[in-house]
Amino acid sequence: MRIGILGAGGMADALGTQWAGAGHEVMISGRDAARTAVRAAAMTAQAGARAGAQAGAQTGVRAGSWAEAAGFGDVVMVAVLAAGIVPVLKEAGAALRGKPVIDVTNAPGPDKYDPTRPLANLIGDLSGGHVVKAFNLCHVDVWRMTPPVFGGRPLAVPLCGDDAAAKKTVGTLAADLGCTPVDGGGLARATLLEATAAFMIGLWFGGADAQAVLPPLASSGTHLPG
Ligand SMILES: NC(=O)c1ccc[n+]([C@@H]2O[C@H](COP(=O)([O-])OP(=O)(O)OC[C@H]3O[C@@H](n4cnc5c(N)ncnc54)[C@H](OP(=O)(O)O)[C@@H]3O)[C@@H](O)[C@H]2O)c1
Repeated sequence: MRIGILGAGGMADALGTQWAGAGHEVMISGRDAARTAVRAAAMTAQAGARAGAQAGAQTGVRAGSWAEAAGFGDVVMVAVLAAGIVPVLKEAGAALRGKPVIDVTNAPGPDKYDPTRPLANLIGDLSGGHVVKAFNLCHVDVWRMTPPVFGGRPLAVPLCGDDAAAKKTVGTLAADLGCTPVDGGGLARATLLEATAAFMIGLWFGGADAQAVLPPLASSGTHLPG
């Protein structure tokens, strides 16, 4: 699959390197062409090391402009800071119309989350793409793990979006990381993922074990007798 990434920061690096190592063609993009090219070269080296012995593995990561990355991808990931969404999609948006668009964005801080302005809807409006919100609940270092498994349990990745085919595509990419994709419902529920990220990040930064606030499935109420 060809994956265009709007962004050349941590999330672009972590997820793009994994997907390149899994044999996908990846193009990243950023505001500074030289810096983006350096990042792409580092990702190529890293992905090549991960692909290891896979004969003929295609691990090259390219660098391009916002519009080039948007045009390159069969699927395109938006991995810029919230402040960059409008300017970046104004440049790249037209090429995203009708494509699966992965939205990993979060508010710039837990106290900055605005439930009246979901980032996923903003991205949908500016791109005309089939937005799937995903990968926004975990720190970038989790996405560098191969695979992200905690306590013997593969990480589950909720996906929120309205287009079934786009969700299937993004689910495949989650599975490529060794994760379990979980249908999180339609795009209207993406704001719940954004709220969850804000809430959990607030707990983590306050020093709490956010994972401990949820019971296991067996005690969720859906599995209790009676
Ligand atoms: N880091 C995490 O742990 C994590 C986890 C889940 C979700 N997220 C979300 O994923 C997105 C990307 O995060 P990241 O960690 O990859 O961020 P990052 O390392 O700081 O990279 C930010 C990217 O946004 C681009 N950008 C474009 N316009 C911008 C503008 N006006 N202001 C600032 N940056 C602009 C930057 O471009 P240049 O390359 O030109 O600088 C860069 O490529 C964010 O929305 C973040 O909330 C992050």
